[in-house]
Amino acid sequence: MYLKVDSLEKRYGAFDPSVSNLSFSLAQGELLGLLGPSGCGKTTTLRMISGMVAATSGRILVGGHDVTGLPTYRRNMGVMFQSYALFPHMTVAENVAFGLEMRKHSKHEIAKRVESALAMVRLNGVGDRKPRQLSGGQQQRVALARALVFEPDILLLDEPLSNLDAKLRDDMRNEIREIQQRLRMTTIFVTHDQTEAMAICDRIVVMNKGRLEQIGTPHEIYETPATPMVADFVGRINRLKGTWRSDGAIDINGSMTIRASRPGARGAPVLVMVRPHRIGLVASGSAIPSAEHENVLAGTIRQVTYIGDTLQYSVEAAGARILVEKATTSAGDPFQSGAEVLLHWSEQDTLTFAADGER
Ligand SMILES: Nc1ncnc2c1ncn2[C@@H]1O[C@H](COP(=O)(O)OP(=O)(O)OP(=O)(O)O)[C@@H](O)[C@H]1O
Ligand SMILES: [Mg+2]
Repeated sequence: MYLKVDSLEKRYGAFDPSVSNLSFSLAQGELLGLLGPSGCGKTTTLRMISGMVAATSGRILVGGHDVTGLPTYRRNMGVMFQSYALFPHMTVAENVAFGLEMRKHSKHEIAKRVESALAMVRLNGVGDRKPRQLSGGQQQRVALARALVFEPDILLLDEPLSNLDAKLRDDMRNEIREIQQRLRMTTIFVTHDQTEAMAICDRIVVMNKGRLEQIGTPHEIYETPATPMVADFVGRINRLKGTWRSDGAIDINGSMTIRASRPGARGAPVLVMVRPHRIGLVASGSAIPSAEHENVLAGTIRQVTYIGDTLQYSVEAAGARILVEKATTSAGDPFQSGAEVLLHWSEQDTLTFAADGER
């Protein structure tokens, strides 16, 4: 592994630690996402890795060398800050050159590198402008060029797309991925947007309250979340409370029995989670396709919400409200509010957690 974070901790004064017992590593050329809710310690982690904030304890290793005590400029890491703060009085080219001048390169070398960094983010020809003469998205690209310009071994990006509108954000995220892969740059990408993390990261670290909840590929994080927090954070999901029965099934409210692919200890409380789009919906009395390993539940539709590409049904069943999502078709809504329906989903799609949150 090329970059290794080992038992990192940060305490600010007497508060609870902002980051604690955090360990993960990246292979060379890997893009790792740091994903988690606001305040979970993402920026603090990135700042410790870059050297802008001193770790309270723990180590950071690059290529086997301990860099924990080194100043930022000796770590050869390109950083793009959350508030990307370009220098307003400098031109775009001067902004990008800033890090190189600190490193004492020749004028000619600097000009060459600035030009190629601006080309990389598709901003050729705007070097003489001031930041205020650029759009928000262009300014964000300048900040990215500034992080790339000295060909760092490691790229650290803190919410690099936060100030862009939805369409530009998708384009830029693909561009970042393309540049990162072309230069084979080991990269940490901080975001609180799970779609963004899933779309471009090789692996994702999900953080919560300063700690690591799970590390895995986007597929692992989504399909086999380690905790209810991860399951909740990476997409919409239904929650049902139940109890394990002796035959390995789960009793919900005494009114329904469901099965999961991995049974738990008899009598123990269990939290069941199912993703809305993995639930099938048929009219009451219809046959369920491939019923053998399906959980089936009778319910009544209480609300139908049309959001363009998706129809959301809120279904009352087993004393709870269950959200079901279906792709829309031009034929219109098959079910109206008040309709009696059967919900069905597979045992594989039935995630179970002990009520204390462990899997
Ligand atoms: N200089 C500081 N002094 C005291 N507490 C701080 C300091 N910097 C950060 N914190 C605290 O550390 C915790 C983690 O903050 P951090 O900025 O790392 O979160 P984040 O995950 O980046 O959040 P966001 O998504 O909002 O950017 C927060 O509770 C924050 O209030
Ligand atoms: Mg932050």
